[in-house]
Amino acid sequence: MTAQLIDGNALSRTLRTEVAQRAAALKIRGVVPGLAVVLVGENPASQVYVRNKVKACADNGLHSVLEQYPSDLSEADLLARVEALNNDPAIHGILVQLPLPPHIDAQKVIEAIAPAKDVDGFHVASAGALMTGLPGFWPCTPYGCMKMLESIGFQLRGKHAVVIGRSNIVGKPMALMLLAESATVTICHSATADLGTMTRQADVIVAAVGKRNVLTADMVKPGAVVIDVGMNRNEEGKLCGDVDFDGVKEVAGWITPVPGGVGPMTITMLLVNTVEAAERAAPSLALTA
Ligand code: GUN
Repeated sequence: MTAQLIDGNALSRTLRTEVAQRAAALKIRGVVPGLAVVLVGENPASQVYVRNKVKACADNGLHSVLEQYPSDLSEADLLARVEALNNDPAIHGILVQLPLPPHIDAQKVIEAIAPAKDVDGFHVASAGALMTGLPGFWPCTPYGCMKMLESIGFQLRGKHAVVIGRSNIVGKPMALMLLAESATVTICHSATADLGTMTRQADVIVAAVGKRNVLTADMVKPGAVVIDVGMNRNEEGKLCGDVDFDGVKEVAGWITPVPGGVGPMTITMLLVNTVEAAERAAPSLALTA
């Protein structure tokens, strides 16, 4: 193996310690950062995700409430719950776990979340803030990828970054974050004519497609940084990413593993956004002194 690993678990531990310190400082000012997690239906993967989010809050000094509803909850009732959480001063961040049942318009629900509490960064106001460089909340997964690049001291200015995937949750915000750091950014997707020609030019590759082996060793420039956002299962049911890890690790300079790479960083950045939301909402020190 030539590539060095970027360890998402280790980086998460460091960042979560900082979150816990910020939460403790807020507590002294009488504010406990609070996250509401809303789950509709019984999707088993979603149940695991929300449990992990709630546990991460408890482990780092954040208050959380988990609201679970049956899959036949009406859209109107969900919107009413979101509105109540918008008005709850103990709640600084609201996360409605996706996917939602098909009878509920997910975008409508996301747009109902107050932008100041949009710790997922999915609201159109958050997307606009990212695009224009204004303060807002960044979506947790690409934000975590940026922290991983920062952790290895990688200078993005003038580098070529290739993002594979164009989702609203990862690909598009990832490209904007890389651009904000003055990288030259190419977004590739399912209609890209020759993916390998693009990726071979890249100093940084972010693979966020949700399909195994999208990136193989022959598609990577020696020494490139490879960030794997994928979360798939192989034939044996083992967790794997979008990158052919065994092949690519022999060519890349740095690589994130799956599991133990981007996955833990997503929850870590949710904690960061929640503590940030609480800090923004807290009365200023001058007023509380
Ligand atoms: N479903 C899968 N990942 C996420 C996420 O990061 N946020 C929300 N709200 N739902 C998800």
